Amino acid sequence: LWLIGARGSVATTVSIGLSALRRGAMPTTGLVSQLAPFAHLNLINFDQVVIGGHEIRRPRLIDEAYKLHESTRAFERSRVDDAAADLEEIDACIRPGVLHGVGPTIAGLADAEWCGAVLPSAGEAVQRVAADLEEFRRAHSLARIIVINLASTEPPFDARTLPTEWDELAAQLAAGTAVLPASTIYAIGALNAGTVYINFTPSVGSDLAALQQLARLRRTCHMGRDGKTGETLVKSALAPMFAMRNLEVMSWVGHNIFGNLDGQVLDDPANKKTKVTSKDALLAEVLGYAPQTHISIEFIRSLGDWKTAWDHIHFRGFLGVPMTMQFTWQGCDSMLAAPLVVDLLRFADRAARDGAVGELAFLASFFKSPMGSHDHALAAQFQQLTRWAAERSNGAKPVKD
Ligand SMILES: NC(=O)c1ccc[n+]([C@@H]2O[C@H](COP(=O)([O-])OP(=O)(O)OC[C@H]3O[C@@H](n4cnc5c(N)ncnc54)[C@H](O)[C@@H]3O)[C@@H](O)[C@H]2O)c1
Repeated sequence: LWLIGARGSVATTVSIGLSALRRGAMPTTGLVSQLAPFAHLNLINFDQVVIGGHEIRRPRLIDEAYKLHESTRAFERSRVDDAAADLEEIDACIRPGVLHGVGPTIAGLADAEWCGAVLPSAGEAVQRVAADLEEFRRAHSLARIIVINLASTEPPFDARTLPTEWDELAAQLAAGTAVLPASTIYAIGALNAGTVYINFTPSVGSDLAALQQLARLRRTCHMGRDGKTGETLVKSALAPMFAMRNLEVMSWVGHNIFGNLDGQVLDDPANKKTKVTSKDALLAEVLGYAPQTHISIEFIRSLGDWKTAWDHIHFRGFLGVPMTMQFTWQGCDSMLAAPLVVDLLRFADRAARDGAVGELAFLASFFKSPMGSHDHALAAQFQQLTRWAAERSNGAKPVKD
């Protein structure tokens, strides 16, 4: 498992969690992959996973873990003490990240000495990423690598001038003229090396025509974007209810407040735009029309990793009578996201073992903006996942391209 943003809150929680799961020191609550429909899949065990990653900040992973304990109080300090040896091993496998197109707020977090003062060309950065993955594969004799992007959300990337053919983009990379954001550089490095790339962030990553072609050419698979962990998860369960009862949603307002590093980055209007666009995609798809929507994301430092979302839904029923539904969601962001990262690792690993190529659309339920799927309704997405599982035996059955 190769985590981009390996010292962030979600990645740190994944590392602590996998260490505890490996030792059988915590229940598997929150892991979709532990549910009955997936029991026959022979998914990878927690003790078969080695973790490495890319980062732009240099603090020790264990210190980030203690910081997370202190700021969230979501888990005991002893969880970190018990995972100490594993966290030190992971730290030794973290390599300097790339900083192309991340915008000033993310660049401001970076340790210049660790990342290198001069930005290489996008082509050189791709090669560095691929070399890091290859070194990781060799050092640990790995059967396969699943790359999961958990880095800070980048500002929007305008892909209109980008070639849609991989050959053309490859030529631009070779000539040193390609302009790409970091998430896409990582995706190219991963896919070109034949590894799996999963984008848990709303950044563009592999969601580009040329990269879809690259994945097919290298006979590997990918998926994204933006983990569906909180408010949007509830929305994707509730919105179909209004559609099924023929109730007209007139407006849907969602206010989100939280105070972790992710929130600090999303406080930059450019980075926030990427997230709001991702959160806003769902309603029109599920309802078949676009009600008025408003989504706010505010950085409130004192809340740390604890996010509160307050949603106000104004809808119309029989005889045109307007009614209201409101809900409040209070979750610990990293505790919601980390199990899904472990699920994505296990399902993507199984798909890769089966020879899957291209977008892993059966994983749509895990994402706010699922690639290769327009279905945003949670129940329908979950059926896609269970159908995929039911079609699989416990062996490594190849799937058709
Ligand atoms: N519930 C959730 O927490 C949730 C849900 C959906 C999506 N996400 C997304 O997942 C990502 C991680 O969330 P988080 O709470 O862990 O954020 P975080 O800010 O704690 O962690 C992000 C990490 O990425 C690192 N980073 C930034 N740019 C990088 C680059 N170019 N290369 C390598 N490392 C880089 C940062 O230094 C930081 O350590 C964010 O993009 C967030 O929007 C989180």
